[in-house]
Amino acid sequence: MQRSASVILAIESSCDETAAAILVDGKVASNIIATQKVHEQYGGVVPELASRAHLQQIVPVVDTAIRQAGIVKSDITAVAFTQAPGLIGSLLVGACFAKGFAQALNIPLIAVHHMQAHVLAHFIDEPKPSFPFLCLTVSGGHTQIVLCRSHLEMEVLGETLDDAAGEAFDKVAKMLQLPYPGGPLVDKHAQKGDPDRFSFPIPEIKGLDFSFSGIKTAVLYFLQKQQKDDPGFVANHLDDICASVQHTIVKALLQKLEKAARQRGIKEIGIAGGVSANSGLRQALEDYGRRNGWKVYLPKFEYCTDNAAMIGIAAWYKLQQQQFTDLSAVPSARAQWI
Ligand code: KG4
Ligand code: ZN
Repeated sequence: MQRSASVILAIESSCDETAAAILVDGKVASNIIATQKVHEQYGGVVPELASRAHLQQIVPVVDTAIRQAGIVKSDITAVAFTQAPGLIGSLLVGACFAKGFAQALNIPLIAVHHMQAHVLAHFIDEPKPSFPFLCLTVSGGHTQIVLCRSHLEMEVLGETLDDAAGEAFDKVAKMLQLPYPGGPLVDKHAQKGDPDRFSFPIPEIKGLDFSFSGIKTAVLYFLQKQQKDDPGFVANHLDDICASVQHTIVKALLQKLEKAARQRGIKEIGIAGGVSANSGLRQALEDYGRRNGWKVYLPKFEYCTDNAAMIGIAAWYKLQQQQFTDLSAVPSARAQWI
């Protein structure tokens, strides 16, 4: 390894994915993710089990990331970790590991905001957006329209007032008795269904904010009513239900994104976060983009859901500005930006 190279070890542990990546001079050299299977039987992430699984996985995941990148520990010049937001116990595992690693190697430590990293995943590969860039960040815990003025200058223009879009997907999936995490399964069934078969109302929320709890409740009441007359309703109409719900969620998201783009006069538009893997959302973004003359940015699938490469790229930009943190940095379950 060239002595002058910048080699970042990035760690992501905010929820139920233990991930590590190595970035050499801002390029991803390895990107390892261990998904925790233990939660499936509970139908959702169990925080205590997540922390324990992170403890078990973090050393082998980091070792694999180092090996796959073809480097050795002493080549690493900085360590980055997710400081917020997330499950506090999960964040603590990554933060403590990163601090120990930085102290042992006497190298700088970089704290990263998980949602900022989702947005910056667009800067891992070409084509990279130009600024100002508008990004709809949709995950299991967040739904935000983010205005990016530069890599590290971001402003939330609108966000959900209740459930996140991913949460709405997962909760509807649960009603349909699909296993956790249900978002990708709703997507899979939706691809075979008719999106106009059933209709659900989109709540009228002022400004650029969102609300998804109403859609979830509308689906619940609709299913209860239908199943009273026909107990086999869900099994017989699964694809059409999934397609119709997905269509509603995607429309609610894109209407607001279109409004934000128009208000701000921005045509560089992207999506990020776990729900950006959704085929309906990706297709709809392309369609809205064509209509509005946008240049659209869809993240690669491996960078949509939680991963450490996005933490690494955020750290790379923080490194340019010497934005380091010290060993007193504490993780936070909620934090707007850090
Ligand atoms: O960004 P992420 O991996 O973790 C959080 O930061 O929350 O997002 C996970 C969320 C889950 O709600 C999951 O169901 C959803 O993203 N998701 C999807 C798809 N893939 C992941 N939702 C709909 N369609 C998908 N294809
Ligand atoms: Zn995430």
